[in-house]
Amino acid sequence: MTASPGNRSQPFATSGASRYIGVVQYRLYQDGDFPRIYAIENVCFNPPLRFGRQMMRELIAGGNSATWIAEQENAVLGFAIVEWGDDGDGLTAYIPTLEVLPGERRRGIGAELLSRLEASAAQAGAGLIWLHVDAKNEAAIRLYRAAGYEQKGRHEHYYARYRAAEIYAKALTPEDRQPSPDDVET
Ligand SMILES: CC(C)(COP(=O)(O)OP(=O)(O)OC[C@H]1O[C@@H](n2cnc3c(N)ncnc32)[C@H](O)[C@@H]1OP(=O)(O)O)[C@@H](O)C(=O)NCCC(=O)NCCS
Repeated sequence: MTASPGNRSQPFATSGASRYIGVVQYRLYQDGDFPRIYAIENVCFNPPLRFGRQMMRELIAGGNSATWIAEQENAVLGFAIVEWGDDGDGLTAYIPTLEVLPGERRRGIGAELLSRLEASAAQAGAGLIWLHVDAKNEAAIRLYRAAGYEQKGRHEHYYARYRAAEIYAKALTPEDRQPSPDDVET
């Protein structure tokens, strides 16, 4: 498995009902999205775990990466990034981040973004997708487990002293290449 810059995650409380109704649209990142997704980063993570603007721009701009956006009524509700590379053992994909605004959680957006990351990685030819998650981030761990990820390791003191990361991974199959519809009813 390759190391990736900026690996981090953080627990965050689930909050109340969405302000939006109806269909959530999923699409790839476009020029002009950056301020809105960086605003989500600011809400979801505090320093020192928050990505700097430059790091975030580099992750998004990487040639071997895909950034998916969830939006509704022109509001960006969440986003996620996947990158891939050949570590000498075949093409492997890594998820640097997956974030949904607190008020929009438990609507299936995180799971949908995750499946789109998997599709992009599988289309690129990756046979495995993996990530680090804060060992105390129960919401994210449940999400990954529900999506078929299995724990493959643990790094003590990964994020900070006494703050461990767990490593989760999932094998990708040709079926994972299937693109999902752009609109998803929630
Ligand atoms: C983790 C996160 C992305 C989940 O997004 P989400 O849109 O709420 O997730 P979904 O609604 O798609 O949840 C899918 C499944 O994951 C599990 N899950 C998600 N959040 C959960 C929670 N707070 N408690 C228990 N299970 C949870 C459930 O199994 C859920 O299915 P269900 O709602 O049918 O029970 C979101 O909590 C978040 O943005 N957290 C802050 C950033 C972060 O920590 N990202 C992870 C980096 S590794």
